[in-house]
Amino acid sequence: MDNWRIFKDENSLEYKVRPYFNHSVEFKKHCSVEERMKTLEEVGWNVFFYPAEMVTGCDLLSDSGTTTMTNQQWASMHYGDESYGGNKGYFLLRDKIKSIFGDDYFNDISINKPNAFIFHQGRSAEYALFASVGQLGQGLVIPSNGHFDTTKANIEINNISPINLFSKDLRNNESTFPFKGNMDTDKLKSILIENLGKVPVIYLTVTNNTGGGQPVSMQNIKEVAKISHTNNIPFFLDACRFAENAWFIKNFEEGYKEKSIKDIVKEMFSYVDGFTVSFKKDGLSNMGGGLFIKQGGLFYEKHSNFLDDITNYQIGREGNPSYGGMSGRDIMSLVEGLDTVVSEDYLNYRVRQVQEFGDAMTKRGIPILTPVGGHAVYMDVDRFFEGTDMKPENFGGISFTALLLGLYGHRACELGHFAFGSLTKDGKDIFPDVNFVRFAVPRLRYEKDDLESVAESVKCLYDNRDLISGVNVISGKELPLRHFKARFVFK
Ligand code: F0G
Repeated sequence: MDNWRIFKDENSLEYKVRPYFNHSVEFKKHCSVEERMKTLEEVGWNVFFYPAEMVTGCDLLSDSGTTTMTNQQWASMHYGDESYGGNKGYFLLRDKIKSIFGDDYFNDISINKPNAFIFHQGRSAEYALFASVGQLGQGLVIPSNGHFDTTKANIEINNISPINLFSKDLRNNESTFPFKGNMDTDKLKSILIENLGKVPVIYLTVTNNTGGGQPVSMQNIKEVAKISHTNNIPFFLDACRFAENAWFIKNFEEGYKEKSIKDIVKEMFSYVDGFTVSFKKDGLSNMGGGLFIKQGGLFYEKHSNFLDDITNYQIGREGNPSYGGMSGRDIMSLVEGLDTVVSEDYLNYRVRQVQEFGDAMTKRGIPILTPVGGHAVYMDVDRFFEGTDMKPENFGGISFTALLLGLYGHRACELGHFAFGSLTKDGKDIFPDVNFVRFAVPRLRYEKDDLESVAESVKCLYDNRDLISGVNVISGKELPLRHFKARFVFK
């Protein structure tokens, strides 16, 4: 058989095999449509309150902490060391952080100025940062390409105003620009003029979870860095999905095709002064987060007095600095996860799966944000209900997620008028610029058929969109983070 080269090669097949196989699986509980609908009614049609055990379809509520871990990760957990001080995993994590993000992000213990802070998840890292910069004065603002809900809440709790500067391309359905997650830098320049001396840090979320899960280009990272540093303002990344973002830079930005993901990640982090991160996403672990401040960066130089405040917060609220709020075994699984997440086999498969899920929606005529980002498919709720009687104040996205779960067993998340909206003091609705339902794809968890079934279910609702009624909010409408708390009834 010396003529084997004339055969079609594996890369040209329509169906590509996954770069892994199932190591252990869990069968789901049976649960009828009647049981699901009854339970949803009992919890006020808010899918966050619904028991996960009764999700018979795909649970796409979040890609956070929901990763199926590799056998190496599970095995590494046995090596977890739960010592109160200086556990084994701490040193492994330090070496991993330095090798992935850069040497300056994790000072050795011998340097009496800590700059790497482990937290139990991303939001507590954010709180620690915003609580310290909140001391810099009144009327502060923090601009971003898109703050996530908990980030926004942590900024507000510290009496700072979050500002979202979505790119112009984000709401342009005709645009095929691959980096719709970019920050609008013209708007950033005017915000800095209007708020002179009132901007303690500038933030860039990669990928932009509030902005349709869209990636950010290296060019935009560089541009925002330049503007920040010209204005003497520290620049931070919200780095939850840093590896997926690097994949888009490699595949869609000129000059990066030949670079490795690891080199691209290093370059991304070379422009910033620090980052907060939830390791529940691109750490592939079920728990974990961190705040990392670059030694010699603008924040480190300008605000070194805050490093001790952050350490006090960490010790007081989370744990000894060497474990921060994570158990030793979770640290071990994170060290392993960080290795996998930057591997090209993993990333090629991961992003392709999300994109194919997007294609399954588009093929059925469902209005989604395109091009699709790296962790989720975002359905445009306004376009979904176009031509029907659905009004913004009836929160069609909430009705949609309740019906998708009740009727078909799939759980998605409204990230739009309800999650990101608010009320004025006299009770008028304020709606955000974006109105999505997000289908977040947990890493390494579902297969093609599962996601095709979600698209098919969404199509059934789309075909009957005229029949979907809006909801009344029976409680929680005025509360911060209201999507986690509110209860609804169908009109
Ligand atoms: N920043 C971004 C961009 C996020 O997406 C999240 C979490 C956080 C910060 C907070 O991290 O959960 O570890 O405290 N996002 C999850 C989601 C919850 O479903 O998108 P955390």
